[in-house]
Amino acid sequence: MEFTCVWRGEFENAEINELHAEAFEHRVLDDDWKHQVHTHSLGWVCARQGGELVGFVNVAWDGGVHAFLLDTMVSKRAGRRGIGTQLVAVAVAELRAAGCYEWLHVDFEDDLRTFYFEACGFTPTTAGLIRL
Ligand SMILES: CC(C)(COP(=O)(O)OP(=O)(O)OC[C@H]1O[C@@H](n2cnc3c(N)ncnc32)[C@H](O)[C@@H]1OP(=O)(O)O)[C@@H](O)C(=O)NCCC(=O)NCCS
Repeated sequence: MEFTCVWRGEFENAEINELHAEAFEHRVLDDDWKHQVHTHSLGWVCARQGGELVGFVNVAWDGGVHAFLLDTMVSKRAGRRGIGTQLVAVAVAELRAAGCYEWLHVDFEDDLRTFYFEACGFTPTTAGLIRL
């Protein structure tokens, strides 16, 4: 089935909470994603298939030239059909079109190297992380 990826697409909090729980394997939370992304993000991309939310990515911002890709996720039943790649491509295209950002960062675990480096076009770099 065809899917659509929409920059700043409409969503309900419950849809994102369910998708996040499935993608990151935890119980369904009650987070206020609308408030979070409208307050702290440059934008986000929603992927829908037959009306159902099957993918999402959040683009956070430092207020300057750096944007950060967070929570890239695609439902298991819609996986490996290019939706994740398209979510990231739409985010990159929107940031480029805006013309005022310089860098899009992402961090991830080793098993997703092919996804981010080969499918999405990120350049390998060294990054760091501290659990707080
Ligand atoms: C990572 C994720 C968003 C990928 O979405 P997707 O729609 O399945 O990805 P695509 O179909 O665009 O994949 C394109 C290519 O990337 C690679 N790839 C995608 N998912 C992969 C995975 N889980 N493991 C290894 N390689 C993967 C493959 O090379 C794939 O091409 P192929 O299907 O022809 O082999 C999805 O698997 C997901 O939601 N995972 C759980 C949440 C998560 O870990 N998110 C990342 C946070 S940093």
